[in-house]
Amino acid sequence: MSFYPSEVIDDIRSGNDIVDVVGEFVKLKRSGSSYVGLCPFHNEKTPSFHVNQEGQFYHCFGCGAGGNVIGFIMEHENLSFGDAVKYLADRINYTLPEVSFTKDAQQKRELRQKLYDIHKIAARFYYDRLMSDEGRTAVEYLDKREVSIGARRKFGLGYSPIAKGALYNRLKEAGFDDDTIIKSGLVYKRSDNTFYDKFFNRLMFPIIDVYGNIIGFGGRILGDGQPKYLNSPETDIFNKSKNLYNLNLAKQARAGELILVEGYMDAIAIYQAGFKNVVASLGTAFNENHSKVMKAYADSVILLFDSDDAGVKAVMRAIPVLKGAGLKVKVLQVVDAKDPDEYIKKFGANAFGELLNKAKSHILFRAEQIQKQFDLNNIEDRIDFSKEIAKLMSEVDSTIEVDAYLKEVSRLTQIDVSAIRSEIDKLNNGVREIKNINRRTNTNKKGIDGAREDIINIVMANRRYYDIISQYLKPEELLEPFYIKILEIIYSLYSKDKAVDTQSVLDCIETPEEQRKFTAIFVKRIKFNEDEIIKAINDIVKNIKNSYYDKLISDDYTNPNISQLIENKRKANNLYISLSDG
Ligand code: GTP
Ligand code: MN
Repeated sequence: MSFYPSEVIDDIRSGNDIVDVVGEFVKLKRSGSSYVGLCPFHNEKTPSFHVNQEGQFYHCFGCGAGGNVIGFIMEHENLSFGDAVKYLADRINYTLPEVSFTKDAQQKRELRQKLYDIHKIAARFYYDRLMSDEGRTAVEYLDKREVSIGARRKFGLGYSPIAKGALYNRLKEAGFDDDTIIKSGLVYKRSDNTFYDKFFNRLMFPIIDVYGNIIGFGGRILGDGQPKYLNSPETDIFNKSKNLYNLNLAKQARAGELILVEGYMDAIAIYQAGFKNVVASLGTAFNENHSKVMKAYADSVILLFDSDDAGVKAVMRAIPVLKGAGLKVKVLQVVDAKDPDEYIKKFGANAFGELLNKAKSHILFRAEQIQKQFDLNNIEDRIDFSKEIAKLMSEVDSTIEVDAYLKEVSRLTQIDVSAIRSEIDKLNNGVREIKNINRRTNTNKKGIDGAREDIINIVMANRRYYDIISQYLKPEELLEPFYIKILEIIYSLYSKDKAVDTQSVLDCIETPEEQRKFTAIFVKRIKFNEDEIIKAINDIVKNIKNSYYDKLISDDYTNPNISQLIENKRKANNLYISLSDG
């Protein structure tokens, strides 16, 4: 969130023409009403990166990057919103006002800054210890694990010494008070009022956020012993479910795909083998927040977990979470090695590269897991197996893909494609019976998202459309949190009589990911003429409401209000919106 008043943000924006600012990083060529160049956010040979001077926004048709000038600097220079504003203010010699915080916010901010500083000093301290005589056993350990000198430096690896208050003393020396030091999680106070370092005699892995701040540490025991790893606790700057190990470096690879592994050492080994787009979760179960963060930097993920049962379980748990964030999911298991690190040591970087190419769709991976539960020589098991596969196939959108998967499953199991297909048909009929009440034309996901995006663009285009549409359509009916948020922003701007355009909406969106998504919607706008518009509004609103009620109905067939929902849905279908309604 910005602490600057909106007039200041306006000044910064209008003083920094997006074409000039982007032009400092990207070679732009005029093309019609926009400027075009090679996208700085992904690798490409033909330009699909557009900068629109009139609307003061940018959008890449290749990777979907997009936003306004502030968003561009945030993304490109890896800065927070406030720092991007400072950057742009500097650029035009604009003096920013002293930001006014509430006392609480001010204290929180100061604390966070101190914690970042403490972590930086700690990382330096551990690194120096690794380089000193004290660090000899740790260096030997790294040699044994074949971590290159370059990787040690790149990852800022360190060593926490045996002396139990060594870091504490260093931090006191740097002038931090006990209270703040304890809040860093790196030191704790014992009942006898002495201060102990959390980490001692361990190999230290700094954990770094996407902005380059060190926010915590993982510490590995040198050799065997328990616990193998100690990790920093969550603190005011360290949220384990929003950060991933190596994301700061992986995002720079701009690969569009991330490799997700379990361990720090796996991430380092893979990075060192030349595959920089690797991340690891931080010793916590992989969750929704992680996948959202990943979606901000990639469209697809290769899940590469250990080859043991725990690894398979972790994969099975992670798949729906990643799918839920809209990521394409592929799965890879290492063979003849216990984890990716060992695989690379045994077979080399090239072999690992070839292995990556063998990553298979999560659907096939799950099909294999299902197969393991059944004895396919047994006729009943074969039927049950086919049923399970039929269920799995209901997740696949395209019939071409279903065909391809079925062929593969049939090849693996020697079960006839037609046998599985008949289970799919039975299943589909069943679903059709239940959903009989919902019979209608446009159900595919793309269609409904398209409708949601169209309505956002239409409402933005003209206040008159807002006046009409807002009487009929509530933001929540868009169902998806992101679309709901955008429509709420637009409604609220109109209701406060504020200007509604890309800029004013972008100003209400804090994160670069969401700015990008919004810009992607905006560039897809279609111009309707007056004759078409009312038909379009009616079709789209109906489509959205149908989806909305279908969702409510199908979420809970046992809902006692189901007949009310069906009635509402019927009404929605008979609705007619006319332009004079406003
Ligand atoms: P190496 O055994 O050195 O190869 O480590 P690794 O990075 O391959 O780790 P491993 O696959 O054994 O474990 C995966 C991740 O789980 C680690 O990177 C840690 O984040 C976490 N982890 C492993 N062991 C422990 C433990 O004993 N305690 C905690 N809190 N986390 C652990
Ligand atoms: Mn390992």
